[in-house]
Amino acid sequence: MLQPNDISSFWLPFTPNRAFQASPRMLVRADGMYFYDETGRALLDACAGLWCCNAGHGRKPIAEAISRAAHELDFAPTFQFSHPMAFALSQRIAAMAPDGMDHVFFVNSGSEAADAALKIARAYFHKIGQGSRFRIIGREKGYHGSTIAGIAMGGIGNNRKHFGPLIPGTDDHLPLPYDAATMRYTRGEPQNLEKYADALEGLVALHGAETIAAVIVEPFSGSGGVYGSSKSYFQRLRAICDKYGFLLIFDEVITGFGRMGYGFAAERYGVTPDIINFAKGVTSGAAPMGGSIIANKIYDAFMSNSGGENNIELFHGHTYSAHPLACAAALATLDIYRDEGLFEHALKMEKVLEDAVHSLKGAPFVADIRNPGFAAGIELEADPKAPGRRGLDAIKLAFHEQNMVVRVGGDTIALSPPLIATESDVSKIIDGIRGVLSKLN
Ligand SMILES: Cc1ncc(COP(=O)(O)O)c(C=O)c1O
Repeated sequence: MLQPNDISSFWLPFTPNRAFQASPRMLVRADGMYFYDETGRALLDACAGLWCCNAGHGRKPIAEAISRAAHELDFAPTFQFSHPMAFALSQRIAAMAPDGMDHVFFVNSGSEAADAALKIARAYFHKIGQGSRFRIIGREKGYHGSTIAGIAMGGIGNNRKHFGPLIPGTDDHLPLPYDAATMRYTRGEPQNLEKYADALEGLVALHGAETIAAVIVEPFSGSGGVYGSSKSYFQRLRAICDKYGFLLIFDEVITGFGRMGYGFAAERYGVTPDIINFAKGVTSGAAPMGGSIIANKIYDAFMSNSGGENNIELFHGHTYSAHPLACAAALATLDIYRDEGLFEHALKMEKVLEDAVHSLKGAPFVADIRNPGFAAGIELEADPKAPGRRGLDAIKLAFHEQNMVVRVGGDTIALSPPLIATESDVSKIIDGIRGVLSKLN
């Protein structure tokens, strides 16, 4: 029977549940830059919820759009049918992507976008008569979600190693473009990373180009510890993919919708991928939605190599693909980003965050500080006896003593404030982190 204080029925994802039950952290309301707990205490949101609430919390136009949709069209199937908002939204999103990427496949999360990208990449090569290409090359510390496809392409050991055989053809990963010996405390984007992209040549030598379908990378690794890369790195990766005919997939689930000062980081880096995955910021976290933006050459290959027009071109999709409530939320969110100039604001705020976060160098247990885009990673020295313990302590101290919600991956504190953050919000966040670090042991 359910007891008044029994909170074990909800098995929390990616959480030490027993520790949480001993000292829960409940969020009951959110507005602007703040969450509120059940006592009404305000908690500064240093991580945009989970890298997603880019427009800040409690945005009325988004809530009203969702409400209107719920009243007018609670659901419409997008298998064999559709609804106008799905088309309007796909056009808006495609218009933000590089030229030549005019098609959007909708799913409900970043993980599902990883599955969609893998399937579309493999099926594309089937369609064009190169079915021997099945390998998808990921990157060390890459995070593409928690489904089997996401963890297989991802490069985080703890996410992979408990689950038996994953997906054939997904075991190769490029090196993370990072060298702890020379790159600690780099401000902004590290440079001279081309050799890390050149490692792809080694995999070509090992497996043969004719077995490789695609390479998937995040413009910066978020959940893997906040590691940035640079324009020349991505351009080199694009050039090698072109040389051998591989698709290049950008997982922009975190970096999309303003985190790097642009609609997509692809624009920042002047690189046109073949597939861009998105989720999170597309609805500012207010409704579940994800998707893949698809290059015309891929879409056209499906349309022209699937036989008669009554044939389904891609056997993939979800009941809630392009759900009306999510589409309404996304359209209202994109209006806010445009009308409030939030991507441009985020670009300006990068330097503010950079200066503020690097002032933590020398604070207790700080081992490195990295700041790609409007985000930062503060890597802590791991407790040799209990890796991850200091990271968890940082969450608890931030919540209970500094009135802040922070995100941690292992022992790295990840900061990604909502894009509405002001200079004063950034200083409050850094002061809070300083307070947290002073209490760690
Ligand atoms: C780069 C990246 N890809 C995919 C995902 C998975 O998204 P979701 O949690 O919506 O499945 C995430 C989530 O953090 C992410 O950061």
